Amino acid sequence: MPEYIHVSVAWPYANGDLHVGHLAGAYLPADIFARYHRLKGNHVLMVSGSDSHGTPIMVEADKRGISPRELFMHYHRRFLETQRDIGISYDLFTHTDTENHHRIAQDIFMKLLAEEYLYRETQKQLYSEAAGRFLPDRFVEGECPVCHFPNARGDQCDHCGSLLDALDLINPRSKVDGSVPTVRETEHYFLDLSAFIPALQQYLGQEKDHWRTNVLSLSRNRVGDLHGRPITRDIDWGIDIPLEGWDNKKMYVWFEAVMGYLTASVEWAHNMGQPDAWKQWWYNPDAKIYNFIGKDNIEFHTIIWPAELLGISGLYADGQKINLPYDVPANEFMNIEGQKFSKSRNWAVWVPDILKRYDPDAIRYAATMAMPESKDSDWSWADFVNRNNNELVAAWGNLVNRVLAFARKNFEGVIPTPDALNDDDKAIVAQSEAAFETVGNLIAAVKLRAALSEAMTLVREVNAYLDRRAPWKRIKEDRADAATGVYVALRVIDNLKVLLSPFLPFTAEKLHQYLGYEGQLFGDQIISTYAESQSDHEALTYEGSKGRGKWEPGNLPPGQVLREPAPLFKKLGATDAEAAAVIESERARLGQPYQE
Ligand code: MF3
Ligand code: ZN
Repeated sequence: MPEYIHVSVAWPYANGDLHVGHLAGAYLPADIFARYHRLKGNHVLMVSGSDSHGTPIMVEADKRGISPRELFMHYHRRFLETQRDIGISYDLFTHTDTENHHRIAQDIFMKLLAEEYLYRETQKQLYSEAAGRFLPDRFVEGECPVCHFPNARGDQCDHCGSLLDALDLINPRSKVDGSVPTVRETEHYFLDLSAFIPALQQYLGQEKDHWRTNVLSLSRNRVGDLHGRPITRDIDWGIDIPLEGWDNKKMYVWFEAVMGYLTASVEWAHNMGQPDAWKQWWYNPDAKIYNFIGKDNIEFHTIIWPAELLGISGLYADGQKINLPYDVPANEFMNIEGQKFSKSRNWAVWVPDILKRYDPDAIRYAATMAMPESKDSDWSWADFVNRNNNELVAAWGNLVNRVLAFARKNFEGVIPTPDALNDDDKAIVAQSEAAFETVGNLIAAVKLRAALSEAMTLVREVNAYLDRRAPWKRIKEDRADAATGVYVALRVIDNLKVLLSPFLPFTAEKLHQYLGYEGQLFGDQIISTYAESQSDHEALTYEGSKGRGKWEPGNLPPGQVLREPAPLFKKLGATDAEAAAVIESERARLGQPYQE
């Protein structure tokens, strides 16, 4: 029975380009996972979008002297292009400024209000006398009351990860002009998180062996001690509060951004002309929702969003329980050449930038091998170049090349017909077939580094097999035996093509063609929206293909006509000295001003 798998990815703030930390942290893991489940024949719905609201957008727009909308539209477009080019295969990548998202966020607000999960309270808030307005949390900096890091933001400490109330900052100062804020009173709506403690304890207390231990322990630690949290703000950019007299306030960005997982599902179903289709992932109790995020976002996904979902039971389906996240495989952080990522110092590797110089699969490969799955990891340009040259080019690419070229030259350009397989032949075929189970289970458990390493181990074993089997020598003595060896190698390569395809989709499609197949392993999956205005949606691509490949051992047909191959990967630097120069030039870019 095919499963319903919802793959949702953290919504990037549309205030800057995507960097490799984003890629390795959330977007690529989600994509690999989604591609695998599509090949398994499961019903995958993969959604995300630009987070267009909140002070991160306002601060950056302020800095550039443009409107928040101009800023977010600019980066929304770039997110679409970057993710298309690196092959993140969404069913829908939308944004939070659509009419659909606004409407559902307001419905959810009203439902929570009706269920008495929202209450009003007057709050003290930092106020800038100079600017004559309240200062949103992100406009304030100061010392963290928890770990005493001197530059904590008003909403969160980047050092210890604690969520903060700006009022608790020690020695607060305005980020805009450095002035010392005063405290004024203002009224806000609060989400009564304490009302959800028993239900959340039950949710987090259930068997959760599939959860990462850091995600689970952080969530279990926080759930016993939950208080109301303000969900409105004194700002002018965001979603309106659908009540009279609240014109000067907007929804808090985190309160509504997490709803995007739901609202994007609804928008997708609407675009498909099947307005109820989204309910398969949200109300079917067997469906599984996976949220791919970074570790700084855990609490929003394991406590706050589940609380909101618990509070709106029955909103769109009478009496039915809505699904909470099945797993939240949060990643840790990725450093760059041993140092913490920093936007302000431009200690960063920007995805659209490196796509100008390197192929998407080379980037995907290095990012997967360095995914921060269980601890912080490092993006190193030496690793990137070495992995590309030694693993992709020398091990996998050359294997494909030499076998395809040899087969085309010696067997009339078709896949040769094998004779009886010897034990060595049978063993390597069996090994490649068994890998569907081992690699597949690792991907399903979101252990993607291990999954890719497992597939690459098989690549090395096929190379060793070929060296032993040496069809290029055998062909002089026994043509039929050489044909068998070549057939076996091609058959295993055909299996490896599928095993590697979630990681390396672009080169897998090429190889699929070289092997003589018609059609594609994956169709063009991205269905994205540009929105010039809130109601003006334009489909960027709309293929909606489910993909035709299958996650199962192939049965490569003898006689199939091979197409002319080209190398799958490019060596970086023809010599060691040239490779070292590539590494050097990339390192030299770090910390330099970035030109988009
Ligand atoms: N915009 C947030 C960030 O970049 C992530 C939001 S995830 C969402 O950290 F689910 F809330 F949208
Ligand atoms: Zn701290």
